[in-house]
Amino acid sequence: MKLEKIEIFDTTLRDGEQVPGCKLNAEQKLVIAQKLDDLGVDIIEAGFPISSPGDFHSVSEIAKIVRSAKVCALSRAHKKDIESAAQALKYAKKPRIHTGIGTSESHIKFKFNSTPEEIIERACEAVTYAKSFVDDVEFYAEDAGRTDNAFLAKVCQEVIKAGATVLNIPDTTGYCLPEEYGKKIKYLKDHVQGIDNVVLSTHCHNDLGLATANSIAGAVNGARQIECTINGIGERAGNTALEEVVMIFKQHQHLNFTTDINSRMLTELSLLTSEMMGMLVQPNKAIVGSNAFAHSSGIHQDGVIKNRETYEIINPEDVGVNKSSIVLTARSGRSALAYRFKNIGFDVTKNELDTLYVEFLKIADRKKEVNNDDLNLMMTAFAQTANYEHR
Ligand code: KIV
Ligand code: ZN
Repeated sequence: MKLEKIEIFDTTLRDGEQVPGCKLNAEQKLVIAQKLDDLGVDIIEAGFPISSPGDFHSVSEIAKIVRSAKVCALSRAHKKDIESAAQALKYAKKPRIHTGIGTSESHIKFKFNSTPEEIIERACEAVTYAKSFVDDVEFYAEDAGRTDNAFLAKVCQEVIKAGATVLNIPDTTGYCLPEEYGKKIKYLKDHVQGIDNVVLSTHCHNDLGLATANSIAGAVNGARQIECTINGIGERAGNTALEEVVMIFKQHQHLNFTTDINSRMLTELSLLTSEMMGMLVQPNKAIVGSNAFAHSSGIHQDGVIKNRETYEIINPEDVGVNKSSIVLTARSGRSALAYRFKNIGFDVTKNELDTLYVEFLKIADRKKEVNNDDLNLMMTAFAQTANYEHR
C-alpha cells in the first residue's frame, strides 16, 4: 500500500527561537535554514517579522536563500503584522503567511475581552487580508487544545470560506491527552465543510510530555502536516521533536505514513542547532541524545555485542550516528571489557580477562567511566606482571 506523506513544518527558527536562553544571530539562522532545506522539511517557519527589525531581516534573508521548502512567516490577526509578514516574504519562492487568533474561552475572555462572534470575524478578516498578498495562508486557532470542538469547527469552516489553505490546531498549552487530541482532529474532519480541500496541521506543546504522542494521534485521525522543532525546543517545555515523529513513522510502517526527511542528517542538525542556540540536549533525549545509542549495563552490553537488535530498535546509522557505543562503567560485564580491549587492539584469554576485570572494577568504582587511555594503562601494567603477549 502506498504510504501517505506527512508534511513536516519546522518551527525551530520561530517557536524554537523564542525560548529563554536561545542565542541565534541572523547568519546562524541562515545556516540552520539552509540545513533544514537540505534535510527535506516541507515548510520552514522563519520567524515573526513584526516582532523586531532583526527578525524581519532574518525572515527576508531566509526567504531569499531557501530553494525547496515553503517559507512561512508568523503574524497575529493584525493588518500591520500581516503586511510585515508579506513584506519579509517578498523574495520567497513559495511564501506562506501564518496568521491566527486565540479561540478558547479563556483567550476570548481574558486575552481579547471579546466575544466568539467577534473572534470569527477577526479571524476571517485576517485570512482575507493575508490572501491579498499570498495564495498560501495558514490559519492557527491558538489554544485549540482547550477550545470547545463545536466552536472550533465553526471557526475552521469560516476561515476556509475566507481562503485558508492550511488549518493549524495548536495544543498551545500542552494540555491534551493523545486520545482527546486525536478525537478533536477527527471531529473537525467529520464536521467542517470543505475540510478535505485544506491541510489540517498539528502544533503540540510538551507541557505534559505528550507533544509527540499528540502529533501522532493527530496524523492518525486526519492531520497531514506536523509542526515541530529540532531537539523539541520551543516555548516552555518545548514543541514536538522533529526527529521523534520522523523516526516513529519510519519504525512503525503500519501507520502508513512517510516524510521527505533525510533521517541520516538528524544527528548533525541536532548538534548544529544545539551549539548555535547554546541550548544543551539532555543526554537521554530520544533519537539525538548522547546516550541514545550508548549501552552501559552489563546485561544490555552482552546482548548488543551479540546482536545490536537485542536492545536497539533503530539502526544508529539511520540517524547519522556511526555505531552504538559500549560505555565501560562499574555496571559493565566481562564481555564489554573484552570487546573494548579488542577495539583497541588487545585480544585477551578468559583467564586474563578474569584478572583484568578485577582491576577494571576498582578503576570503574573510582572513575565512573573507564576510557581507552585507562584501558591502555591497565594493559601496560598487566603485561609487566603477567607475561602478556600482544595478540
Ligand atoms: O503554540 C501556539 O499556539 C503557537 C501559535 C502561534 C501557532 O505557537
Ligand atoms: Zn507554539
